[in-house]
Amino acid sequence: MHILHVVGARPNFMKAAPVLRALAAQSGIDQTKLRQTLVHTGQHYDAAMSQVFFQQLEMPEPDCNLGVGSGTHAQQTAGVMLAFEPVLVERKPDLVLVYGDVNSTVAAAQVCSKLGVRVGHVEAGLRSRDRSMPEEINRLLTDQLSDLLFTPSADGDENLLREGIDASRVHLVGNVMIDTLVRLLPRAEEHFPADLSSPYALVTLHRPSNVDDLPWLRELLATLVDLSGELNIVFPVHPRTRQRLDDLGAGTATNSRLRLLDPLPYLEFLALQRHAAMVITDSGGIQEETTFLGVPCLTVRENTERPITIALGTNQLVGRNLQRLRAAAGEIIARASSPELQNREVTASHRVPLWDGHAAERIANIIVRGSAH
Ligand code: UD1
Repeated sequence: MHILHVVGARPNFMKAAPVLRALAAQSGIDQTKLRQTLVHTGQHYDAAMSQVFFQQLEMPEPDCNLGVGSGTHAQQTAGVMLAFEPVLVERKPDLVLVYGDVNSTVAAAQVCSKLGVRVGHVEAGLRSRDRSMPEEINRLLTDQLSDLLFTPSADGDENLLREGIDASRVHLVGNVMIDTLVRLLPRAEEHFPADLSSPYALVTLHRPSNVDDLPWLRELLATLVDLSGELNIVFPVHPRTRQRLDDLGAGTATNSRLRLLDPLPYLEFLALQRHAAMVITDSGGIQEETTFLGVPCLTVRENTERPITIALGTNQLVGRNLQRLRAAAGEIIARASSPELQNREVTASHRVPLWDGHAAERIANIIVRGSAH
């Protein structure tokens, strides 16, 4: 069996890494049975957004890089389709695995379905029900085109069944991103910055709804400056956000308690999440990681495709409402100053069913043997 993986953007890498490993372990059982090919679309290309993740996650070098790069949604999606089609024709895999909800994901799934190649979608079924988000369009289309749908939580199964997808194609396997976290958390501890004192808040913002609206971004930044009067703030800045902050003339507008950093590698960022008093974010994956770590998370969005992180985890939607953000942060600071929370252990680890470090093994078992066990 020949399995081809397609990755392209930063959040794909920590999802694909455990699946590559789990399938390699399967092929160790019978070397001749399984071959893997890794294709990088080049959607993310800066070393800090891509290469460093391959190193830290101990992923193999991609067998080919499509070099698609940045562009409009149509340019990027079409670019991946045009460059991927000949690769697929030449390599002839039995199954293509696509990850998450980025433009590379939907582009690769479309090429496969037109050429009659089976597709498996890892992280299927998540829905924000907000079609103004490009990722929601990517999720809907990728799931409709996929032959195997691997869901992280039961809400994903329900969404897929409601959309008419046959239950026999859907497999509840758990969260592959948590597989990577479980494996690398002990190593991450060595990567905590020596010069950072607690308590601190960790911030990431990169959604177009937050960073492409410059008046809103200016207010958001002012709220963070205000919050830095109460605790240190560390803000690793995504390239998209960096451009917008530069447009605002705020690229360097910090004080000694609000630090704007370049994007961080996986281990450094995980260490910062682990010990943060709170995380303020608009990322999807970070809502999940903080839930696993038991770290309070304030999500600056009106909705989430990961409602399980609210129902069973530590996530709170504050919407586009800076008073709510400020009030929720204030409550967390008040709670965090209690002594028992200062030495918080990882408490939430198995709060969400199947977020246990073994999701990729279930995927590999289903692909190779037809069942998760
Ligand atoms: C993409 C995904 C988003 C994911 C995010 C994680 C889509 C539709 N969006 O958004 O779901 O949460 O990745 O990062 O696929 N840039 C660089 N260097 C890079 C990559 C990008 O400078 O290595 C800059 C470019 O100016 C580019 C901009 O960032 O135009 C946005 O990159 P793009 O891949 O279009 O989308 P993201 O915002 O990263």
